[in-house]
Amino acid sequence: MRIIATVCLSFFLLFSSTNGTPCPNGYTQFNGGDCFKTVRFMAFPETANQAEMACGDGGLLASIHNKEENDMVPKMACTDYPPETVFEKILGLRCWGKDCEWDDGSEVDYINFFPGYELMDDGVQRCFDLNDNGGHWYPRNDHCSSQKGCWLCRVKAKTFDCLDGETEYKGGCVSVHSTPVNQTTAESSCPDGGHLVSVHSGDENAFYQRLASSSGISGSFYLGGFSTDGEEWIDQTHFNFWNFAKNFPNSVFGDCIQMMLSTEFGNQGQWTNIDCLTKLPYLCFRDGRTPTIPTTTTKLPTTTVQKPLANPKCDPIQTFEHSGVVYSPNYPFSIPAKQTCEYLLGTDRGTQASVKFSSYNCTSGTKLSLFDSLDSTEPFATFTFTPPSSSRVYSATSNVLKMSFEASYPVGNGWQADFFGL
Ligand SMILES: *[C@@H]1O[C@H](CO)[C@@H](O)[C@H](O)[C@H]1NC(C)=O
Ligand SMILES: *[C@@H]1O[C@H](CO)[C@@H](O)[C@H](O)[C@H]1NC(C)=O
Repeated sequence: MRIIATVCLSFFLLFSSTNGTPCPNGYTQFNGGDCFKTVRFMAFPETANQAEMACGDGGLLASIHNKEENDMVPKMACTDYPPETVFEKILGLRCWGKDCEWDDGSEVDYINFFPGYELMDDGVQRCFDLNDNGGHWYPRNDHCSSQKGCWLCRVKAKTFDCLDGETEYKGGCVSVHSTPVNQTTAESSCPDGGHLVSVHSGDENAFYQRLASSSGISGSFYLGGFSTDGEEWIDQTHFNFWNFAKNFPNSVFGDCIQMMLSTEFGNQGQWTNIDCLTKLPYLCFRDGRTPTIPTTTTKLPTTTVQKPLANPKCDPIQTFEHSGVVYSPNYPFSIPAKQTCEYLLGTDRGTQASVKFSSYNCTSGTKLSLFDSLDSTEPFATFTFTPPSSSRVYSATSNVLKMSFEASYPVGNGWQADFFGL
């Protein structure tokens, strides 16, 4: 019996060791570890998420953890791009002042800023380019708008083979379970130490969406997270990507998260929160070494906002009543380009609708206009890169103030304003 088992096992290992390369197509394994690739800018990259869509195969903008990895980066060619014309290779680092965080949630255990560039102004610094022989990093502002560059992507290498019915992904295996169960049962039923899937980029979201649809799931399925905990997914990876449909999450609907394959509450692939007792199909991911990503030890200050306060995409017209706070799309992260948002701020009758800006980081690719009333077509104030005075209150003569915000290309992390009646 023992002998048979051993023979079978050896046969299995022999067979599996010949099965494929450790990296997804286009990626190269570095030093027997993770896989890397470069993706050149096809146009102005608009958001980090757009870059991550370009990475593909679950890759995220790369983190760098030691000198060897850093030395390798300047040598990596950018696909289809003559190396001498590449000025920058962009990493997946974001900094709020001196607190930095990698997109993949891994520990910030190595840095190589060009001397003098470590101290940055407050505000989100999104792009770090390497463009000299020392492999130094230069913080850039949020927009990463140079066309002479490319993104550096990183994904885990495959270390074992998936079973029949599982799909290889991010160095691990995804399984689809179409029998609906509640969320606790779903999580505990994930095979081999796996967990309900976590989502870290639009690319990964689209991957699970396609996989679920092609496996015959039609309504929705569980993701491995809680809408009440924006820090970590159940698999302890970093909650760095936000894809809730408009009006969600809303605490009245429950604490668990589902991805929708229907369009009832938003776009296909968007999420809503839902009661955890709801019975739903689910997807699991296992990589044989969960948690995949070491938890961040460089904690950001608790005041740092990690989730956008506004949807990345605005509705053409949004209405707000009485008083409150309004934001540019995706605030406080970079403004997605090519959209115009209109805000109708209605305060109580008899008052003058007013706004006061508590933050404004935009440049000439954007235009914010304030109008006196609903039907006014001539703005009484317009801002591009010169911010509104932070101490000044801008008031309409009526109780309706109309604001229009146009972003032709994304620069800065936007604005936040309080509105109220005076
Ligand atoms: C989830 O479903 C399982 C199996 O049906 C059940 O035993 C368990 O009580 C349910 N969980 C909750 C919190 O109701
Ligand atoms: C940019 O944003 C940061 C915080 O996000 C703020 O401290 C700073 O004052 C803003 N800059 C301008 C010019 O408003």
